[in-house]
Amino acid sequence: MTAATIPGLNGTGDTVPTKHAELLAWVQEVAELTQPDRVVFADGSDAEWERLTDQLVEAGTFTRLNDEKLPNSFLAQSDPSDVARVESRTYICSEREEDAGPTNNWMAPDEMRRTMTELYRGCMRGRTLFVVPFCMGPLGSDDPKLGVELTDSEYVVVSMRVMTRMGSAVLDLLGEDRPFVKALHSVGAPLEPGQDDVPWPCNDTKYITHFPEAREIWSFGSGYGGNALLGKKCYALRIASAMAHDEGWLAEHMLILKLISPEDKVYYIAAAFPSACGKTNLAMIHPTVPGWRAETLGDDIAWMRFGEDGRLYAVNPEFGFFGVAPGTNWSSNPTAMKTIEAGNTVFTNVAMTDDGGAWWEDLENQPEHLIDWLGQDWTPDSGRKAAHPNSRYCTPMSQCPTPAPEWDDPQGVPISAILFGGRRKNTVPLVNQSFSWQHGTFMGATMSSEQTAAAEGQVGSVRRDPMAMIPFLGYHVGDYLQHWINIGKNSDEAQLPKIFYVNWFRRGDDKRFLWPGFGENSRVLKWIVERIEGTADAQATPIGYVPTAADIDLDGLDADRNDVDESLAVNVDDWKAEIPMIEEWLQFVGDKLPSGIRDEFEALKERLDS
Ligand code: GTP
Ligand code: MN
Ligand code: MN
Repeated sequence: MTAATIPGLNGTGDTVPTKHAELLAWVQEVAELTQPDRVVFADGSDAEWERLTDQLVEAGTFTRLNDEKLPNSFLAQSDPSDVARVESRTYICSEREEDAGPTNNWMAPDEMRRTMTELYRGCMRGRTLFVVPFCMGPLGSDDPKLGVELTDSEYVVVSMRVMTRMGSAVLDLLGEDRPFVKALHSVGAPLEPGQDDVPWPCNDTKYITHFPEAREIWSFGSGYGGNALLGKKCYALRIASAMAHDEGWLAEHMLILKLISPEDKVYYIAAAFPSACGKTNLAMIHPTVPGWRAETLGDDIAWMRFGEDGRLYAVNPEFGFFGVAPGTNWSSNPTAMKTIEAGNTVFTNVAMTDDGGAWWEDLENQPEHLIDWLGQDWTPDSGRKAAHPNSRYCTPMSQCPTPAPEWDDPQGVPISAILFGGRRKNTVPLVNQSFSWQHGTFMGATMSSEQTAAAEGQVGSVRRDPMAMIPFLGYHVGDYLQHWINIGKNSDEAQLPKIFYVNWFRRGDDKRFLWPGFGENSRVLKWIVERIEGTADAQATPIGYVPTAADIDLDGLDADRNDVDESLAVNVDDWKAEIPMIEEWLQFVGDKLPSGIRDEFEALKERLDS
C-alpha cells in the first residue's frame, strides 16, 4: 500500500503526513468502500478550524454568533430527529453474546460488519473523508490511548478539536506503528452530483456499534455528539471500560473535582451521576461554605489507575466540556458561563437571540423574541421550549476560569472519595456513606435515577443505572460489578476512596426540592471530607452512615430546617418498598451477579427487618 493510492488526497504535496502503514491501509480501505470525493488529514490548526467553520456557515449547518458576545462561536441546529444518544441503536458486538450482557444490544460481529458495510458502501459520495487522529488523556502519558476517527462530518471534526487532543501532534505520537482505536463515522447521507446538501445531514437508519475485542467503533447515521464524537462515550467509556477490565483499571462516567479546605488541604473527589443529573454542575461548584474552594479537572469521564502507593489516580481523558445548556446560568453555574463566554464554543440546539447571542431555558434575561432550536420564531407565550432540553455547549477545558493546574498531568490525581448519585424524588437521602468498599459497590450497583432527556425514552421513569454506566458499558454488567468488587479485594481498603451516595433531587409533598443544591452542595462535600478525616458524626442506618442536620455545616443556609431533616430521612418503609425493585434488577443481571453484591443485598434486607 502506498500513500499515493489514496484518492483525491488534499494536502501540501502528494504525500500523506504519516507513514503508519496500518492507518494508511485502513484509510484506503474505508475510502474505497465509502467513495468520498477527497481525503483530508485533520491537523488541528487554527487555519483548519477557520476553513471548516466557514464551510459549515456556508452550508447552513452553523450560524456564526455575535463576535462581541461570543467570539469565534457557532450555533448548530440539528435535524429534529437527531438530538440525543440513541441507546436502542447502540450495540456491543462482542464475539460471544454473553459477553455483552443483558443491558446491551448485541449482534454477532460478522453479521453487524456485513450489515454496516452495505450501509457504508458509497455513503461518503460528494463529501470529504476526514482523518482525525486524537488522543484520550494527556499527550505525555506513558501509554497514551490513541484513536483515529474517520468521518464525513465537518461538524464532527471541529467538535473533536474542542473535545480531544487532536491533529498533527497525535499523528506524530502514532509514529509508524503505535496501536490505535479505529473509529469510523458517517452521517450516512451521500450526495449525488448536483444534489444540494441539507444543513444537518443524517440518516433514519442509525447504528452506534462497538467491537470490544477488536477495539473498534462503527457509527452510522447520526451527527449528534454522543453518537458521532467517537472519542467520548464510544471510546473513553465503552471501549475503554473493556480495556480497563482487561488491564486492571477503571473507565468511569465520573467528574473529577479538587476541593481545598480553609487549611489548604486538598481532596480529589470523583462522582458518577447519570446524564443530566449534575456532574458538570458539581465539577464546577462554587462552594458557599466560607474558606472552601473548588477547582475543576473533568466533568464527565474519569480514567482511574492504581499508583505505586496503592491509591487510585484519576485522569480526565477529555479536552473540553460537552455540557447540557438548559439550567446553566450565572447563578447555577458561573464557571460554565465564563468558560462559554470566552468563545470558541459550538452550541447545538440552543435558541438564538435577535442580536446573535445564545439563549436557553433558565438563562437570565429571557428575551421577548428568539429563533428557537427548530429555526422558528419564538416568544415567551409560544408554549414551547426555545432550546431543546438536551441542547449542549461544546467548549474548551482550557478556558475554564478555575481549572486545577494538574488537570493536564498524565499522573492524574489521587481520589479520596467516590460519589454515586441519581435523581430520586423520594426514598434516597441527601447523603449516605457506605460501610465498606463492597457495600459502596453495592450502592453503585443498585443506584437508580429518573430518566432525563439526555437519551430517548420516557422522562421521569425510574431505572437502575449502576455507576451511571448502563448506557456506556462495553461488556457484561455482572463482570463489571465483579471488577469493582475485585478492586476492593485486591487492595488495601484504607488506601481506597471512601464511597458515598448522594441525592440532590429529593422533593417535598408540594414537589419542591428539599435541598437547595448547586453551591450549597459544598456543605455535603464538607461533611464527606470530615468523614474521611474522621471528624464528623453520622448515624448508622440500615442503608449506611447518614448525617443528621446537626452533623452538617448549615451556617447561613437559606433553607427550611424541616426540609433539610426530610432530605436526610431514612424511611424504612420506603426502603422496604425499594427492595423488590432492587431484587428485580439483580435478577436481571443474572448468573454473573457477584456473590459480594448478593451478600450486601441480603445484609440490607436483614438490617431493614431488625
Ligand atoms: P451529562 O453531561 O449528560 O453526562 O450530564 P451531567 O451529569 O453533567 O448533568 P448536568 O450537570 O449538566 O446537570 C443537568 C441538570 O441537573 C440541570 O437541569 C441542572 O439544573 C440540574 N442540577 C445540577 N445540580 C443540581 C442540584 O444540586 N440540585 C438540583 N435540584 N438540580 C441540579
Ligand atoms: Mn455524560
Ligand atoms: Mn455534563
